[in-house]
Amino acid sequence: MSGFGAPHCGALRAGDSGRSAELYGWVGRRRDHGGLTFLDLRDRWGTVQVVFNPELAPAAHAAAAGLRAEFVIKVTGEVRLRPEGMRNPHLATGEVEIAAERVQVLSESLTPPFQLEDASSADTDEKTRLSYRYLDLRRPEMLRILELRHRVNKIIHAHMDENEFIEVETPILSKTSPSGARDFLVPSRLHRGQVYALPQAPQVQKQLLMVAGVQRYYQIARCFRDENLRADRQPEFTQLDIEMSFGDEEDVFNLVEGLFARLWRETIGVELPLPFPRLNIRDALVRYGTDKPDLRYELEIAELGPVLVGTEAKVFRNVLDSGGVVRGLAVPGGSDLSRRELDELAVLARGAGGKGLAWLPGGPLDKFLTPAEISGIQEATGAAEGDLVLIAADRRRRAETVMGLIRSEVGRRRDLIRRDEWRFLWINPTYLFDEDDEGRITYAHHPFVRPVAEDLEFVEERPYDVRAHAYDIVCNGYELGGGSLRIYDPAMQERVFKLLGMPESTIRERFGYLLEAFNYGVPPHGGIAWGVDRVVMMLAGTENIRDVIAFPKTQSMTDLMMDAPSAPDPELMAELGLRFAPLPGTSRQSGR
Ligand code: AMO
Ligand code: AMP
Repeated sequence: MSGFGAPHCGALRAGDSGRSAELYGWVGRRRDHGGLTFLDLRDRWGTVQVVFNPELAPAAHAAAAGLRAEFVIKVTGEVRLRPEGMRNPHLATGEVEIAAERVQVLSESLTPPFQLEDASSADTDEKTRLSYRYLDLRRPEMLRILELRHRVNKIIHAHMDENEFIEVETPILSKTSPSGARDFLVPSRLHRGQVYALPQAPQVQKQLLMVAGVQRYYQIARCFRDENLRADRQPEFTQLDIEMSFGDEEDVFNLVEGLFARLWRETIGVELPLPFPRLNIRDALVRYGTDKPDLRYELEIAELGPVLVGTEAKVFRNVLDSGGVVRGLAVPGGSDLSRRELDELAVLARGAGGKGLAWLPGGPLDKFLTPAEISGIQEATGAAEGDLVLIAADRRRRAETVMGLIRSEVGRRRDLIRRDEWRFLWINPTYLFDEDDEGRITYAHHPFVRPVAEDLEFVEERPYDVRAHAYDIVCNGYELGGGSLRIYDPAMQERVFKLLGMPESTIRERFGYLLEAFNYGVPPHGGIAWGVDRVVMMLAGTENIRDVIAFPKTQSMTDLMMDAPSAPDPELMAELGLRFAPLPGTSRQSGR
Protein backbone atom coordinates (compact mmCIF):
# COMPACT_ATOMS: atom_id res chain seq x y z
CA MET A 1 0.00 0.00 0.00
CA SER A 2 1.27 3.45 -0.80
CA GLY A 3 -0.95 6.39 -0.11
CA PHE A 4 1.89 8.83 -0.72
CA GLY A 5 0.62 9.96 -4.09
CA ALA A 6 -3.06 9.84 -3.09
CA PRO A 7 -5.12 13.01 -3.59
CA HIS A 8 -4.99 15.39 -0.65
CA CYS A 9 -8.24 15.51 1.32
CA GLY A 10 -8.07 19.27 1.53
CA ALA A 11 -7.44 19.72 -2.18
CA LEU A 12 -10.65 18.20 -3.59
CA ARG A 13 -12.86 20.61 -5.50
CA ALA A 14 -16.02 20.54 -7.58
CA GLY A 15 -13.89 19.74 -10.63
CA ASP A 16 -12.93 16.43 -9.04
CA SER A 17 -16.50 15.21 -8.85
CA GLY A 18 -17.04 11.95 -10.60
CA ARG A 19 -13.56 10.70 -9.96
CA SER A 20 -12.97 7.83 -7.65
CA ALA A 21 -10.41 8.46 -4.96
CA GLU A 22 -8.39 6.74 -2.30
CA LEU A 23 -7.92 9.10 0.63
CA TYR A 24 -5.75 8.91 3.72
CA GLY A 25 -6.09 10.95 6.85
CA TRP A 26 -7.28 11.42 10.41
CA VAL A 27 -10.88 11.17 11.54
CA GLY A 28 -12.40 14.42 12.73
CA ARG A 29 -16.00 14.98 13.77
CA ARG A 30 -18.54 12.22 13.07
CA ARG A 31 -22.29 12.79 12.81
CA ASP A 32 -25.03 10.20 12.36
CA HIS A 33 -28.06 11.52 10.51
CA GLY A 34 -31.14 9.73 9.31
CA GLY A 35 -29.26 6.57 8.46
CA LEU A 36 -26.35 8.38 6.90
CA THR A 37 -23.03 8.75 8.71
CA PHE A 38 -20.90 11.82 8.02
CA LEU A 39 -17.35 12.29 9.04
CA ASP A 40 -14.62 14.79 8.43
CA LEU A 41 -11.43 13.34 7.03
CA ARG A 42 -8.40 15.53 7.65
CA ASP A 43 -4.90 15.68 6.25
CA ARG A 44 -2.27 18.42 6.16
CA TRP A 45 -4.03 20.08 3.25
CA GLY A 46 -7.45 20.30 4.86
CA THR A 47 -10.67 18.46 5.52
CA VAL A 48 -13.26 16.78 3.34
CA GLN A 49 -16.63 15.32 4.24
CA VAL A 50 -17.10 11.58 3.84
CA VAL A 51 -20.63 10.11 3.66
CA PHE A 52 -21.41 6.50 4.53
CA ASN A 53 -24.70 5.29 3.09
CA PRO A 54 -26.04 1.95 4.45
CA GLU A 55 -27.89 1.24 1.20
CA LEU A 56 -24.91 1.80 -1.09
CA ALA A 57 -22.09 0.40 1.03
CA PRO A 58 -23.45 -1.47 4.06
CA ALA A 59 -20.06 -2.84 5.17
CA ALA A 60 -18.38 0.53 5.08
CA HIS A 61 -21.36 2.09 6.87
CA ALA A 62 -21.13 -0.52 9.61
CA ALA A 63 -17.38 0.00 9.93
CA ALA A 64 -17.87 3.75 10.19
CA ALA A 65 -19.72 3.23 13.47
CA GLY A 66 -16.43 2.14 15.04
CA LEU A 67 -14.40 5.11 13.83
CA ARG A 68 -13.28 7.47 16.58
CA ALA A 69 -11.62 10.85 16.54
CA GLU A 70 -7.98 10.75 15.41
CA PHE A 71 -8.06 7.22 14.01
CA VAL A 72 -5.92 7.07 10.88
CA ILE A 73 -7.95 5.61 8.02
CA LYS A 74 -7.95 4.94 4.34
CA VAL A 75 -11.22 5.62 2.52
CA THR A 76 -12.07 4.61 -1.01
CA GLY A 77 -15.03 6.18 -2.71
CA GLU A 78 -16.34 8.58 -5.27
CA VAL A 79 -15.94 12.33 -5.17
CA ARG A 80 -19.30 13.91 -5.87
CA LEU A 81 -20.99 17.27 -5.66
CA ARG A 82 -22.95 17.83 -2.48
CA PRO A 83 -26.67 18.31 -3.05
CA GLU A 84 -27.75 21.90 -3.58
CA GLY A 85 -28.29 23.56 -0.19
CA MET A 86 -25.81 21.26 1.53
CA ARG A 87 -22.74 23.05 0.23
CA ASN A 88 -20.51 24.65 2.80
CA PRO A 89 -18.96 27.88 1.52
CA HIS A 90 -16.74 28.14 4.62
CA LEU A 91 -14.84 24.99 3.74
CA ALA A 92 -12.45 24.87 0.77
CA THR A 93 -13.80 21.41 -0.08
CA GLY A 94 -17.35 22.42 0.85
CA GLU A 95 -18.82 21.76 -2.59
CA VAL A 96 -17.95 18.09 -2.59
CA GLU A 97 -18.06 15.01 -0.44
CA ILE A 98 -16.82 11.45 -0.71
CA ALA A 99 -19.38 8.69 -1.06
CA ALA A 100 -17.48 6.00 0.82
CA GLU A 101 -17.28 2.53 -0.65
CA ARG A 102 -14.64 1.03 1.62
CA VAL A 103 -12.89 2.09 4.77
CA GLN A 104 -9.83 0.64 6.45
CA VAL A 105 -8.43 1.54 9.86
CA LEU A 106 -4.65 1.98 9.64
CA SER A 107 -4.14 3.07 13.22
CA GLU A 108 -6.39 3.60 16.22
CA SER A 109 -6.22 6.47 18.64
CA LEU A 110 -6.99 6.90 22.29
CA THR A 111 -9.36 9.74 23.06
CA PRO A 112 -7.12 12.78 22.76
CA PRO A 113 -6.60 14.83 25.93
CA PHE A 114 -8.12 17.81 24.15
CA GLN A 115 -10.45 18.33 21.23
CA LEU A 116 -8.28 19.14 18.25
CA GLU A 117 -10.69 20.74 15.87
CA ASP A 118 -12.56 22.93 18.28
CA ALA A 119 -9.68 23.65 20.61
CA SER A 120 -8.69 27.19 19.92
CA SER A 121 -5.39 27.76 21.62
CA ALA A 122 -7.08 29.72 24.36
CA ASP A 123 -9.41 26.90 25.41
CA THR A 124 -6.78 24.33 26.12
CA ASP A 125 -4.19 24.85 28.78
CA GLU A 126 -0.83 25.38 27.07
CA LYS A 127 0.83 22.82 29.35
CA THR A 128 -1.42 20.11 27.99
CA ARG A 129 -0.79 21.24 24.46
CA LEU A 130 2.97 21.17 24.99
CA SER A 131 2.90 17.77 26.69
CA TYR A 132 1.10 16.37 23.65
CA ARG A 133 2.75 18.66 21.16
CA TYR A 134 2.32 16.15 18.28
CA LEU A 135 -1.45 16.42 18.76
CA ASP A 136 -1.31 20.16 19.17
CA LEU A 137 0.67 20.50 15.94
CA ARG A 138 -1.91 18.35 14.18
CA ARG A 139 -4.37 21.21 14.54
CA PRO A 140 -4.80 22.97 11.20
CA GLU A 141 -3.84 26.39 12.56
CA MET A 142 -0.55 24.99 13.83
CA LEU A 143 0.19 23.18 10.59
CA ARG A 144 -0.44 26.48 8.77
CA ILE A 145 2.24 28.11 10.91
CA LEU A 146 4.74 25.34 10.12
CA GLU A 147 4.00 25.85 6.44
CA LEU A 148 4.37 29.60 6.81
CA ARG A 149 7.71 29.15 8.49
CA HIS A 150 8.84 26.87 5.69
CA ARG A 151 7.83 29.49 3.12
CA VAL A 152 9.71 32.17 5.02
CA ASN A 153 12.85 30.01 4.92
CA LYS A 154 12.37 29.41 1.22
CA ILE A 155 12.02 33.10 0.45
CA ILE A 156 15.12 33.83 2.53
CA HIS A 157 17.15 31.30 0.56
CA ALA A 158 15.91 32.68 -2.75
CA HIS A 159 16.58 36.30 -1.85
CA MET A 160 20.04 35.67 -0.45
CA ASP A 161 21.01 33.43 -3.35
CA GLU A 162 19.88 36.03 -5.88
CA ASN A 163 22.10 38.57 -4.13
CA GLU A 164 25.04 36.15 -4.36
CA PHE A 165 25.22 35.28 -0.69
CA ILE A 166 26.17 31.73 0.17
CA GLU A 167 25.01 29.79 3.19
CA VAL A 168 27.85 28.52 5.36
CA GLU A 169 27.23 26.40 8.44
CA THR A 170 29.13 27.19 11.62
CA PRO A 171 29.72 24.98 14.66
CA ILE A 172 27.30 24.35 17.48
CA LEU A 173 30.06 23.06 19.74
CA SER A 174 31.88 26.33 20.01
CA LYS A 175 33.48 28.88 22.28
CA THR A 176 31.88 31.73 24.12
CA SER A 177 30.61 34.52 21.87
CA PRO A 178 29.55 37.58 23.79
CA SER A 179 25.96 38.63 23.14
CA GLY A 180 24.98 39.63 26.60
CA ALA A 181 23.44 36.38 27.81
CA ARG A 182 24.77 33.40 29.77
CA ASP A 183 26.31 30.57 27.73
CA PHE A 184 25.06 27.01 27.67
CA LEU A 185 28.06 24.78 28.29
CA VAL A 186 28.85 21.27 27.06
CA PRO A 187 31.51 19.41 29.01
CA SER A 188 34.22 17.72 26.99
CA ARG A 189 34.97 14.04 27.62
CA LEU A 190 38.34 14.03 25.88
CA HIS A 191 39.44 17.25 27.51
CA ARG A 192 38.40 16.73 31.07
CA GLY A 193 37.71 19.93 32.92
CA GLN A 194 37.05 21.85 29.72
CA VAL A 195 33.84 22.86 28.03
CA TYR A 196 32.44 23.93 24.73
CA ALA A 197 29.95 26.79 24.68
CA LEU A 198 26.90 26.70 22.45
CA PRO A 199 26.92 29.78 20.22
CA GLN A 200 24.83 32.77 21.34
CA ALA A 201 25.25 33.79 17.69
CA PRO A 202 27.83 32.90 15.04
CA GLN A 203 29.22 36.44 15.33
CA VAL A 204 32.94 35.73 15.37
CA GLN A 205 32.69 32.92 12.85
CA LYS A 206 30.94 35.11 10.32
CA GLN A 207 33.57 37.79 10.74
CA LEU A 208 36.29 35.17 10.23
CA LEU A 209 34.47 34.07 7.07
CA MET A 210 34.92 37.62 5.84
CA VAL A 211 38.64 37.36 6.60
CA ALA A 212 38.45 34.10 4.65
CA GLY A 213 37.18 35.90 1.57
CA VAL A 214 33.61 34.56 1.53
CA GLN A 215 32.46 38.20 1.04
CA ARG A 216 28.75 37.45 1.25
CA TYR A 217 27.63 35.01 3.93
CA TYR A 218 24.30 34.06 5.36
CA GLN A 219 22.98 31.28 7.53
CA ILE A 220 19.65 30.31 8.99
CA ALA A 221 21.43 29.76 12.26
CA ARG A 222 20.38 28.26 15.56
CA CYS A 223 21.48 30.31 18.56
CA PHE A 224 21.48 29.48 22.27
CA ARG A 225 21.16 31.91 25.14
CA ASP A 226 20.58 31.17 28.79
CA GLU A 227 18.54 34.22 29.71
CA ASN A 228 15.20 35.00 31.32
CA LEU A 229 12.44 34.03 28.93
CA ARG A 230 9.66 36.33 27.77
CA ALA A 231 6.80 36.01 25.36
CA ASP A 232 9.19 36.69 22.48
CA ARG A 233 12.25 34.83 23.77
CA GLN A 234 13.36 31.21 23.71
CA PRO A 235 16.62 29.75 25.00
CA GLU A 236 17.20 28.31 21.56
CA PHE A 237 16.06 30.33 18.59
CA THR A 238 16.79 30.94 14.95
CA GLN A 239 18.40 33.91 13.24
CA LEU A 240 18.88 34.87 9.68
CA ASP A 241 22.52 35.76 10.11
CA ILE A 242 24.16 37.93 7.45
CA GLU A 243 27.63 39.35 6.87
CA MET A 244 29.05 41.21 3.87
CA SER A 245 32.42 42.65 2.88
CA PHE A 246 33.04 46.11 1.42
CA GLY A 247 29.49 47.24 2.18
CA ASP A 248 28.15 49.98 4.40
CA GLU A 249 24.87 50.66 6.25
CA GLU A 250 23.03 51.43 3.03
CA ASP A 251 23.91 48.04 1.54
CA VAL A 252 22.67 46.21 4.63
CA PHE A 253 19.46 48.27 4.72
CA ASN A 254 18.75 47.68 1.02
CA LEU A 255 19.26 43.97 1.23
CA VAL A 256 17.15 43.55 4.35
CA GLU A 257 14.36 45.92 3.27
CA GLY A 258 14.09 44.05 -0.03
CA LEU A 259 13.82 40.79 1.85
CA PHE A 260 11.17 42.02 4.30
CA ALA A 261 9.14 43.51 1.45
CA ARG A 262 9.26 40.18 -0.31
CA LEU A 263 8.37 38.20 2.80
CA TRP A 264 5.35 40.36 3.57
CA ARG A 265 4.21 40.35 -0.04
CA GLU A 266 4.64 36.64 -0.68
CA THR A 267 3.26 35.31 2.61
CA ILE A 268 0.47 37.68 3.61
CA GLY A 269 0.05 39.82 0.51
CA VAL A 270 1.05 43.09 2.16
CA GLU A 271 3.00 45.71 0.23
CA LEU A 272 5.48 47.41 2.60
CA PRO A 273 6.44 50.96 1.67
CA LEU A 274 10.21 51.23 1.14
CA PRO A 275 12.60 52.51 2.29
CA PHE A 276 11.90 52.10 6.00
CA PRO A 277 12.18 55.34 8.00
CA ARG A 278 15.21 55.84 10.22
CA LEU A 279 15.43 57.27 13.68
CA ASN A 280 18.55 57.81 15.73
CA ILE A 281 18.71 56.19 19.13
CA ARG A 282 18.67 59.52 21.00
CA ASP A 283 15.43 60.64 19.42
CA ALA A 284 13.91 57.20 19.84
CA LEU A 285 14.61 57.30 23.56
CA VAL A 286 13.38 60.85 24.02
CA ARG A 287 10.26 60.61 21.86
CA TYR A 288 9.18 57.05 22.59
CA GLY A 289 11.07 56.10 25.71
CA THR A 290 12.38 52.90 24.14
CA ASP A 291 14.83 51.65 21.55
CA LYS A 292 12.00 49.70 19.90
CA PRO A 293 9.17 52.17 19.42
CA ASP A 294 5.74 51.10 18.26
CA LEU A 295 4.73 53.73 15.72
CA ARG A 296 1.19 52.44 15.28
CA TYR A 297 0.07 55.15 17.68
CA GLU A 298 1.32 58.68 18.28
CA LEU A 299 1.63 59.72 21.94
CA GLU A 300 5.02 61.35 21.57
CA ILE A 301 7.02 62.14 24.65
CA ALA A 302 8.31 65.70 25.01
CA GLU A 303 11.35 67.14 26.74
CA LEU A 304 10.04 69.54 29.40
CA GLY A 305 13.37 70.75 30.79
CA PRO A 306 13.47 73.95 28.73
CA VAL A 307 10.07 75.19 29.92
CA LEU A 308 10.94 74.33 33.51
CA VAL A 309 14.39 75.95 33.74
CA GLY A 310 13.29 78.37 36.40
CA THR A 311 10.67 76.25 38.11
CA GLU A 312 10.03 76.39 41.83
CA ALA A 313 8.27 73.04 41.88
CA LYS A 314 10.63 71.06 44.09
CA VAL A 315 10.20 67.69 42.45
CA PHE A 316 11.28 69.08 39.10
CA ARG A 317 13.84 71.49 40.52
CA ASN A 318 15.78 68.78 42.37
CA VAL A 319 15.84 66.44 39.41
CA LEU A 320 16.90 69.12 36.95
CA ASP A 321 19.57 70.44 39.31
CA SER A 322 21.10 67.00 39.65
CA GLY A 323 21.34 66.53 35.89
CA GLY A 324 18.11 64.61 35.39
CA VAL A 325 15.29 65.24 32.95
CA VAL A 326 11.56 65.95 32.97
CA ARG A 327 9.52 64.37 30.22
CA GLY A 328 5.82 64.32 29.51
CA LEU A 329 3.19 63.18 27.08
CA ALA A 330 -0.33 64.34 26.33
CA VAL A 331 -3.12 61.79 26.52
CA PRO A 332 -5.77 62.86 24.00
CA GLY A 333 -9.07 63.35 25.81
CA GLY A 334 -7.30 62.13 28.93
CA SER A 335 -9.15 64.40 31.33
CA ASP A 336 -11.59 61.52 31.71
CA LEU A 337 -8.90 59.33 33.30
CA SER A 338 -10.13 58.34 36.73
CA ARG A 339 -8.12 58.72 39.87
CA ARG A 340 -7.85 54.95 40.05
CA GLU A 341 -6.42 54.74 36.53
CA LEU A 342 -3.89 57.43 37.34
CA ASP A 343 -2.90 55.53 40.45
CA GLU A 344 -2.43 52.38 38.40
CA LEU A 345 -0.18 54.24 35.98
CA ALA A 346 1.79 55.55 38.93
CA VAL A 347 2.22 52.01 40.25
CA LEU A 348 3.58 51.05 36.83
CA ALA A 349 6.02 53.95 36.94
CA ARG A 350 7.22 52.95 40.36
CA GLY A 351 7.58 49.36 39.25
CA ALA A 352 10.14 50.59 36.74
CA GLY A 353 12.08 52.33 39.47
CA GLY A 354 10.45 55.71 38.90
CA LYS A 355 9.59 57.96 41.79
CA GLY A 356 6.06 58.57 40.65
CA LEU A 357 3.95 60.19 38.02
CA ALA A 358 2.61 63.72 37.87
CA TRP A 359 -0.24 64.95 35.75
CA LEU A 360 -1.96 68.13 34.84
CA PRO A 361 -4.33 69.82 34.93
CA GLY A 362 -5.73 68.79 38.28
CA GLY A 363 -2.61 67.01 39.44
CA PRO A 364 -0.51 67.25 42.57
CA LEU A 365 1.92 69.84 41.21
CA ASP A 366 -0.44 72.36 39.66
CA LYS A 367 -0.19 74.69 42.58
CA PHE A 368 3.62 74.82 42.36
CA LEU A 369 3.72 75.64 38.67
CA THR A 370 3.33 79.11 37.20
CA PRO A 371 0.69 79.68 34.52
CA ALA A 372 3.55 80.22 32.05
CA GLU A 373 5.06 76.85 32.98
CA ILE A 374 1.72 75.12 32.65
CA SER A 375 1.07 76.56 29.23
CA GLY A 376 4.69 75.79 28.27
CA ILE A 377 4.16 72.15 29.20
CA GLN A 378 0.93 72.03 27.24
CA GLU A 379 2.61 73.53 24.24
CA ALA A 380 5.63 71.23 24.38
CA THR A 381 3.45 68.13 24.61
CA GLY A 382 0.90 69.41 22.11
CA ALA A 383 -1.86 69.06 24.70
CA ALA A 384 -5.25 70.45 23.70
CA GLU A 385 -8.38 71.20 25.72
CA GLY A 386 -9.52 68.03 27.46
CA ASP A 387 -6.11 66.34 27.22
CA LEU A 388 -4.15 65.21 30.22
CA VAL A 389 -0.37 65.52 30.42
CA LEU A 390 1.51 62.74 32.24
CA ILE A 391 4.93 63.71 33.53
CA ALA A 392 7.95 61.86 34.94
CA ALA A 393 11.08 63.46 36.33
CA ASP A 394 14.11 61.29 36.90
CA ARG A 395 17.62 60.35 35.83
CA ARG A 396 17.63 60.37 32.05
CA ARG A 397 17.63 56.61 31.53
CA ARG A 398 15.02 55.96 34.17
CA ALA A 399 12.74 58.72 32.93
CA GLU A 400 12.95 57.19 29.48
CA THR A 401 12.05 53.73 30.74
CA VAL A 402 9.16 55.09 32.79
CA MET A 403 7.73 57.25 30.02
CA GLY A 404 8.16 54.42 27.51
CA LEU A 405 6.11 52.14 29.75
CA ILE A 406 3.48 54.80 30.36
CA ARG A 407 3.25 55.49 26.65
CA SER A 408 2.64 51.85 25.76
CA GLU A 409 0.21 51.33 28.63
CA VAL A 410 -1.82 54.39 27.64
CA GLY A 411 -1.73 53.31 23.98
CA ARG A 412 -3.06 49.90 24.94
CA ARG A 413 -5.67 51.00 27.48
CA ARG A 414 -7.11 53.70 25.28
CA ASP A 415 -7.09 51.46 22.26
CA LEU A 416 -4.92 53.80 20.20
CA ILE A 417 -2.98 51.05 18.40
CA ARG A 418 -3.86 50.76 14.71
CA ARG A 419 -3.78 46.99 14.49
CA ASP A 420 -3.68 46.75 10.72
CA GLU A 421 -0.46 48.72 10.28
CA TRP A 422 3.09 47.47 9.79
CA ARG A 423 5.42 50.18 11.05
CA PHE A 424 9.00 49.21 10.29
CA LEU A 425 11.88 51.47 11.14
CA TRP A 426 15.65 51.45 11.51
CA ILE A 427 17.18 52.70 14.71
CA ASN A 428 20.47 54.15 13.48
CA PRO A 429 22.96 55.22 14.60
CA THR A 430 22.89 53.68 18.05
CA TYR A 431 25.24 54.09 20.99
CA LEU A 432 28.42 52.06 21.32
CA PHE A 433 28.33 51.55 25.07
CA ASP A 434 25.75 50.89 27.70
CA GLU A 435 25.75 50.86 31.48
CA ASP A 436 25.18 47.51 33.19
CA ASP A 437 23.08 47.01 36.30
CA GLU A 438 26.07 47.72 38.54
CA GLY A 439 26.75 51.00 36.74
CA ARG A 440 29.80 49.64 34.87
CA ILE A 441 30.51 50.27 31.23
CA THR A 442 29.59 47.48 28.85
CA TYR A 443 28.93 47.13 25.13
CA ALA A 444 25.49 48.03 23.88
CA HIS A 445 25.54 45.22 21.29
CA HIS A 446 28.80 43.28 21.26
CA PRO A 447 32.47 44.31 21.37
CA PHE A 448 33.06 44.13 17.60
CA VAL A 449 30.90 47.11 16.63
CA ARG A 450 32.68 49.92 14.76
CA PRO A 451 32.52 53.27 16.60
CA VAL A 452 31.78 56.47 14.70
CA ALA A 453 35.36 57.69 14.25
CA GLU A 454 34.82 61.36 15.12
CA ASP A 455 33.14 60.47 18.42
CA LEU A 456 36.28 58.71 19.63
CA GLU A 457 37.71 62.13 20.41
CA PHE A 458 35.54 62.30 23.54
CA VAL A 459 35.39 58.59 24.37
CA GLU A 460 37.25 59.04 27.66
CA GLU A 461 35.08 61.91 28.93
CA ARG A 462 31.66 60.92 27.64
CA PRO A 463 31.76 57.24 26.64
CA TYR A 464 27.98 56.91 26.65
CA ASP A 465 27.62 59.54 23.94
CA VAL A 466 29.87 57.69 21.51
CA ARG A 467 27.82 56.58 18.54
CA ALA A 468 28.28 53.34 16.68
CA HIS A 469 27.81 52.24 13.10
CA ALA A 470 25.06 50.03 14.40
CA TYR A 471 21.38 49.59 13.70
CA ASP A 472 18.33 47.74 14.89
CA ILE A 473 15.32 46.92 12.80
CA VAL A 474 12.07 47.42 14.67
CA CYS A 475 8.48 46.69 13.72
CA ASN A 476 5.37 47.48 15.76
CA GLY A 477 7.32 47.62 18.99
CA TYR A 478 9.34 44.46 18.43
CA GLU A 479 13.08 44.40 17.92
CA LEU A 480 13.34 42.09 14.94
CA GLY A 481 17.06 42.34 14.35
CA GLY A 482 20.27 44.15 14.91
CA GLY A 483 23.68 44.54 13.37
CA SER A 484 26.57 46.82 12.68
CA LEU A 485 29.64 47.57 10.67
CA ARG A 486 32.55 45.92 12.42
CA ILE A 487 35.95 46.95 13.59
CA TYR A 488 38.54 45.52 11.18
CA ASP A 489 41.66 47.16 12.54
CA PRO A 490 43.34 45.06 15.27
CA ALA A 491 44.57 48.14 17.13
CA MET A 492 41.05 49.61 17.23
CA GLN A 493 39.65 46.27 18.36
CA GLU A 494 42.14 46.12 21.22
CA ARG A 495 41.32 49.68 22.17
CA VAL A 496 37.60 48.91 22.42
CA PHE A 497 38.26 45.75 24.46
CA LYS A 498 40.29 47.90 26.84
CA LEU A 499 37.65 50.64 27.04
CA LEU A 500 35.30 47.84 28.07
CA GLY A 501 37.63 47.17 30.95
CA MET A 502 38.92 43.83 29.72
CA PRO A 503 42.36 42.97 31.06
CA GLU A 504 45.00 42.06 28.48
CA SER A 505 45.00 38.42 29.61
CA THR A 506 41.24 38.09 29.09
CA ILE A 507 41.52 39.65 25.65
CA ARG A 508 44.25 37.17 24.64
CA GLU A 509 42.50 34.19 26.14
CA ARG A 510 39.03 34.92 24.73
CA PHE A 511 39.70 36.74 21.48
CA GLY A 512 43.35 36.15 20.68
CA TYR A 513 42.43 34.18 17.56
CA LEU A 514 40.38 37.11 16.24
CA LEU A 515 43.11 39.69 16.77
CA GLU A 516 45.53 37.25 15.16
CA ALA A 517 43.25 36.87 12.14
CA PHE A 518 42.98 40.64 11.85
CA ASN A 519 46.70 40.71 11.03
CA TYR A 520 46.19 38.92 7.72
CA GLY A 521 44.25 41.25 5.45
CA VAL A 522 40.73 42.03 6.63
CA PRO A 523 38.08 43.48 4.33
CA PRO A 524 35.91 46.18 5.90
CA HIS A 525 32.75 44.29 6.74
CA GLY A 526 29.42 44.42 8.50
CA GLY A 527 26.17 42.60 8.82
CA ILE A 528 23.00 41.94 10.71
CA ALA A 529 20.97 39.14 12.24
CA TRP A 530 17.22 39.06 12.58
CA GLY A 531 15.07 36.67 14.51
CA VAL A 532 13.26 34.24 12.26
CA ASP A 533 10.96 33.18 15.10
CA ARG A 534 9.93 36.78 15.75
CA VAL A 535 9.28 37.49 12.10
CA VAL A 536 7.16 34.36 11.77
CA MET A 537 5.28 35.45 14.91
CA MET A 538 4.41 38.74 13.25
CA LEU A 539 3.36 37.10 10.00
CA ALA A 540 1.30 34.49 11.85
CA GLY A 541 -0.32 37.15 14.01
CA THR A 542 0.63 35.61 17.35
CA GLU A 543 2.29 37.18 20.37
CA ASN A 544 3.58 33.87 21.68
CA ILE A 545 6.91 32.71 20.28
CA ARG A 546 6.09 29.11 21.25
CA ASP A 547 3.36 29.09 18.62
CA VAL A 548 5.92 29.32 15.82
CA ILE A 549 8.39 26.71 17.08
CA ALA A 550 7.56 23.06 16.60
CA PHE A 551 8.98 21.89 19.90
CA PRO A 552 9.50 24.93 22.12
CA LYS A 553 10.54 25.19 25.74
CA THR A 554 8.19 26.43 28.43
CA GLN A 555 8.72 29.64 30.35
CA SER A 556 10.82 27.64 32.82
CA MET A 557 12.93 26.19 29.98
CA THR A 558 11.58 22.68 30.03
CA ASP A 559 10.42 20.42 27.24
CA LEU A 560 7.24 18.97 28.71
CA MET A 561 6.85 16.29 26.07
CA MET A 562 10.34 14.80 26.23
CA ASP A 563 10.79 15.79 29.83
CA ALA A 564 14.02 17.69 29.32
CA PRO A 565 16.23 18.62 31.04
CA SER A 566 16.63 15.33 32.87
CA ALA A 567 19.10 13.64 35.17
CA PRO A 568 22.21 12.49 33.30
CA ASP A 569 23.43 8.93 33.01
CA PRO A 570 25.77 8.39 36.00
CA GLU A 571 28.27 6.47 33.88
CA LEU A 572 28.56 9.32 31.42
CA MET A 573 28.95 11.76 34.27
CA ALA A 574 31.82 9.66 35.61
CA GLU A 575 33.46 9.60 32.19
CA LEU A 576 33.14 13.35 31.98
CA GLY A 577 34.57 13.66 35.45
CA LEU A 578 31.53 15.58 36.64
CA ARG A 579 29.61 15.58 39.88
CA PHE A 580 26.84 17.95 40.92
CA ALA A 581 27.52 20.01 43.98
CA PRO A 582 24.55 20.13 46.34
CA LEU A 583 22.44 23.23 45.97
CA PRO A 584 23.41 25.92 48.46
CA GLY A 585 21.16 25.65 51.47
CA THR A 586 20.25 22.05 50.77
CA SER A 587 23.71 20.65 51.52
CA ARG A 588 24.17 18.47 54.57
CA GLN A 589 26.94 19.65 56.81
CA SER A 590 29.88 17.48 55.89
CA GLY A 591 32.78 19.47 57.33
CA ARG A 592 33.83 18.33 60.72
P1 AMO B 1 21.22 40.19 18.54
O1 AMO B 1 21.75 39.70 19.83
O2 AMO B 1 20.60 41.56 18.52
O3 AMO B 1 22.38 40.26 17.44
O4 AMO B 1 20.17 39.17 17.97
C1 AMO B 1 19.54 39.40 16.73
C2 AMO B 1 18.09 39.02 16.79
O5 AMO B 1 17.89 37.69 17.23
C3 AMO B 1 16.63 37.60 17.88
N1 AMO B 1 16.81 37.06 19.24
C4 AMO B 1 15.98 36.19 19.83
N2 AMO B 1 14.85 35.60 19.40
C5 AMO B 1 14.23 34.74 20.22
N3 AMO B 1 14.68 34.40 21.45
C6 AMO B 1 15.83 34.96 21.94
N4 AMO B 1 16.28 34.60 23.15
C7 AMO B 1 16.52 35.92 21.11
N5 AMO B 1 17.65 36.64 21.25
C8 AMO B 1 17.81 37.34 20.11
C9 AMO B 1 16.05 38.98 17.94
C10 AMO B 1 17.27 39.84 17.77
O6 AMO B 1 16.95 41.10 17.23
N6 AMO B 1 25.44 38.67 16.24
C11 AMO B 1 24.51 39.76 16.39
C12 AMO B 1 24.03 40.29 15.05
C13 AMO B 1 25.04 41.08 14.29
O7 AMO B 1 25.69 41.96 14.89
O8 AMO B 1 25.16 40.84 13.08
C14 AMO B 1 23.30 39.28 17.19
O9 AMO B 1 23.14 38.13 17.51
O10 AMO B 1 15.14 39.14 16.86
P1 AMP C 1 -21.41 21.17 7.14
O1 AMP C 1 -21.76 22.61 7.18
O2 AMP C 1 -20.69 20.74 5.91
O3 AMP C 1 -20.82 20.63 8.41
O4 AMP C 1 -22.79 20.48 7.06
C1 AMP C 1 -23.75 20.64 8.09
C2 AMP C 1 -24.58 19.45 8.15
O5 AMP C 1 -25.39 19.38 7.01
C3 AMP C 1 -23.83 18.15 8.21
O6 AMP C 1 -23.40 17.83 9.50
C4 AMP C 1 -24.90 17.22 7.74
O7 AMP C 1 -25.77 17.00 8.83
C5 AMP C 1 -25.62 18.06 6.71
N1 AMP C 1 -25.13 17.73 5.38
C6 AMP C 1 -24.01 18.18 4.77
N2 AMP C 1 -23.87 17.61 3.55
C7 AMP C 1 -24.95 16.81 3.40
C8 AMP C 1 -25.40 15.93 2.37
N3 AMP C 1 -24.69 15.78 1.25
N4 AMP C 1 -26.55 15.27 2.54
C9 AMP C 1 -27.27 15.42 3.68
N5 AMP C 1 -26.88 16.23 4.69
C10 AMP C 1 -25.75 16.91 4.56
